[in-house]
Amino acid sequence: VTNIRSHWTIKDLPWQRFDQTKVNKDLLAFAKAASLIEANALLYVEYLKNIFFDKPEILVDLERWGAEELQHGRVLRRWAERADPSFDFELSMKKYRRAFVFPMQNESLRGSQALELVSRCVIETGTSSFYSALRDATAEPVFFEICRRIAGDEIRHYHLFYSHLQKGFSENMTRWARIKAIFGRLCEATDEEVCFAYAACESTGEVNQKNLALYAEKYLVFLARFYKPSHFKQAILMVGRAANLPIQAKEGLWLAVVAHKILNFRVWIFQKLHALHLLHVRSRS
Ligand SMILES: [Fe+2]
Ligand SMILES: [Fe+2]
Repeated sequence: VTNIRSHWTIKDLPWQRFDQTKVNKDLLAFAKAASLIEANALLYVEYLKNIFFDKPEILVDLERWGAEELQHGRVLRRWAERADPSFDFELSMKKYRRAFVFPMQNESLRGSQALELVSRCVIETGTSSFYSALRDATAEPVFFEICRRIAGDEIRHYHLFYSHLQKGFSENMTRWARIKAIFGRLCEATDEEVCFAYAACESTGEVNQKNLALYAEKYLVFLARFYKPSHFKQAILMVGRAANLPIQAKEGLWLAVVAHKILNFRVWIFQKLHALHLLHVRSRS
């Protein structure tokens, strides 16, 4: 499992089959945002190398993993530039980096190496379901293939971090500690990283940090539109495994249906408030 050398490159994609008429604007906006986040992967490699400085077997894997995430950024960028020639990646990246400051430090933001691995499992679960949802939503053949391959990579990344968690840390880690770490990370699911990347690509001027709540809602609307119960189910089973919770496929399915309903209800409320002009954009500083 630890051999995660990428099985594909940018050249393996069927670029000649690109079809402009099938590009969906909403999906394109999130493809651009994802290209920025993935292209920022070296910051995570550096951060995680600090955290796992005494674990050579993890350090080796981090290098390969980071290279794959960078490739995701390059491929998404190439596609987004093709789909929208006015997309200025470099400018968007500058705006993004001015708005989103990576909390670089030598100690784990999650509290321990084990919790850092649990958190990575959550993130890789999130990215794999994100690209699976894009894959199932798009009619554009090249983007379909890109998302299919990236979603596969993200699932392998999950297994990579999960296997390190099980190998080195599972004994002295309670289920409760894992669940706490997972909920902590899930609460950041619509955090600044995603929202500011979206804003950096979509807004004409600088990213307005005061509009974080508005961008977060746009992101939730997007998720509600493109995430189906099947995407939630896969995510719930993966996160359940990282939490050491025995969730079976059947329970995973009804939990997924509930999660899907809750998300749609949340979006419905937001849109009603918006229509009634009752929603004020709050800032989070
Ligand atoms: Fe990625
Ligand atoms: Fe990944």
